[in-house]
Amino acid sequence: MCGIVGYVGEQHPIKILLDGLKCLEYRGYDSSGIVLQNNDECQIIKSVGKISNLEEKINNSKLIESNMGLAHTRWATHGEANEVNAHPHKVGKVTLVHNGIIENAKELKDRLISDGVEFVSETDTEVACALISYYYDKENDIKKAIEKACNEIVGSYAFGILVEGIDKIYAIRKDSPLILGIGEGEYFIASDISAIINYTNQYILLDVNELVEMDSSGYSITTNGKEIKKEVLTATIDASSKEKNGYPHFMLKEIMEEPIVLENTLKPILSDISSLPDLKQYEEIHIIGCGSAYYAGMIGKSLFEENGVRAIAEVASEYRYKKVLYDRKTLVILISQSGETADTIAAMRKAIDNNIDTLAIVNVKTSTIARESKNQIFIEAGPEIAVATTKAYILQVAILSLLAYSCGESDSKVIDDFNSIPSLLREVLDRKDEYLKIAKDIYKNDNIFFIGRKLDYSICMEGSLKLKEVSYIHSEAYQAGELKHGTISLIEEGTPVFGIITEDDIREKTISNVEEVKSRGAKVIVVTNSDIDGYEYVVKVKKVSKYVQSLLVVPVLQLIAYEVAKLRGCDIDKPRNLAKSVTVE
Ligand code: F6R
Repeated sequence: MCGIVGYVGEQHPIKILLDGLKCLEYRGYDSSGIVLQNNDECQIIKSVGKISNLEEKINNSKLIESNMGLAHTRWATHGEANEVNAHPHKVGKVTLVHNGIIENAKELKDRLISDGVEFVSETDTEVACALISYYYDKENDIKKAIEKACNEIVGSYAFGILVEGIDKIYAIRKDSPLILGIGEGEYFIASDISAIINYTNQYILLDVNELVEMDSSGYSITTNGKEIKKEVLTATIDASSKEKNGYPHFMLKEIMEEPIVLENTLKPILSDISSLPDLKQYEEIHIIGCGSAYYAGMIGKSLFEENGVRAIAEVASEYRYKKVLYDRKTLVILISQSGETADTIAAMRKAIDNNIDTLAIVNVKTSTIARESKNQIFIEAGPEIAVATTKAYILQVAILSLLAYSCGESDSKVIDDFNSIPSLLREVLDRKDEYLKIAKDIYKNDNIFFIGRKLDYSICMEGSLKLKEVSYIHSEAYQAGELKHGTISLIEEGTPVFGIITEDDIREKTISNVEEVKSRGAKVIVVTNSDIDGYEYVVKVKKVSKYVQSLLVVPVLQLIAYEVAKLRGCDIDKPRNLAKSVTVE
């Protein structure tokens, strides 16, 4: 959600900035812009929509000579996606790009207006820019001006800042990620390392209110005016993992990577289950996440409960504000691919503030959640570029399943199943023609339903989310037994209904519910692990332990969602309105 890249060095920055923006596209955006500076000269170019639109404008412009610049992708929050609201913003001598939300923007804006400042956009970012500019005019010291402004700003921000007449880049952050990249005679800022990995793998993770000042001769970091030294880290991501490697879309590539990432993540743990944190000491487990991460949490909750462990799964945006009774020895498990989801971070901090142990299941090792949680289990998904999560979700489920398993009796049969999942999953993924046939039959429908009970219902939630987010077809998931309390009125001749039936003890109950929709004309697609027939489509996967069954079922739904979206001509890897990393509330 919003992306920042900045460069200062020996080269003209334009190629580096555009390359960086393209690498950050996955975060989601609806407009973009760049600023180039050469002492007193400053050139801003902005555009709405795809980065290719910005690139076209840049190609048609005469660019100034420069060795420094900032670039930004904006995901609209305050004010619609148009060129005026796109970043960079410039007030007085200060030009700014911003990721985050300034919560007291209105109050600050009113104050600045009464001081005679005029605004051209509807954004909170322009307010931050004006505030820095205001203090710069007063103090004539840009570092002091930035610090003063940041002390007054409430909310989250990562700022990249240029000042006319000063050939340096400044950067500072709070609650929105920002790194400083270190090359040879060149320095970068970026929302994440993927934006600059083609140029350097050396970087520094910036912490709250650490102010960077950099030019081609070096950088300094200060907090409250005092210079500090920070560890330089080496990124291990391989630039080629950001390529599609022959696949038409990242989503498909990432689904196909599921067996290998499962192997990489599970192997070391399965060889020594005791390496997992001991959860038996807790009386209650709260599993918190957003979107798919929450749906993974729902599966975890069911499995913990089956093992007699009291567990809840809750959406982070609710959990952070609700009254939580921490009256038992509780563990809060945070699920997040990016580790930067604002609501999940807030939920984590709430637990920490209440002296509750936290365990993060996270993909990005340098993320806020990875760094602030007490314990971490890293999923080895590698970069996930498609906005809709697939392989990271599968790994989140796998880790939660292992944790739930570790709370019960050991059973070599279950371990065998965990070990065999990657190869069984390869077989499931190979059945592409079956999924394409189903997709061809349903892709023109306006409404598609998913029904299942217990753990199967959690699978339905993920299947339905995947379908709606990439294909834009309206879809809902229901507990199968709940349908006849209202929603069944929506079923008409030809409405596709996915029936997920893997839970042995309630198989017949779910079949009855599927019959109810079938007799009202629904086109039924059953995904099951048992011998069921009599429906338009039955996708059967191998029956395995309850701990790993969903790992064979969800990928079927992911692939069908992918094929449906492809048939509908959707922008599969970057669905409209969505951001990969939801860094604002
Ligand atoms: C759906 C999807 C989102 C994320 C959610 C949490 O395909 O990708 O629902 O799962 O925004 O993101 P993370 O896991 O980064 O906290």
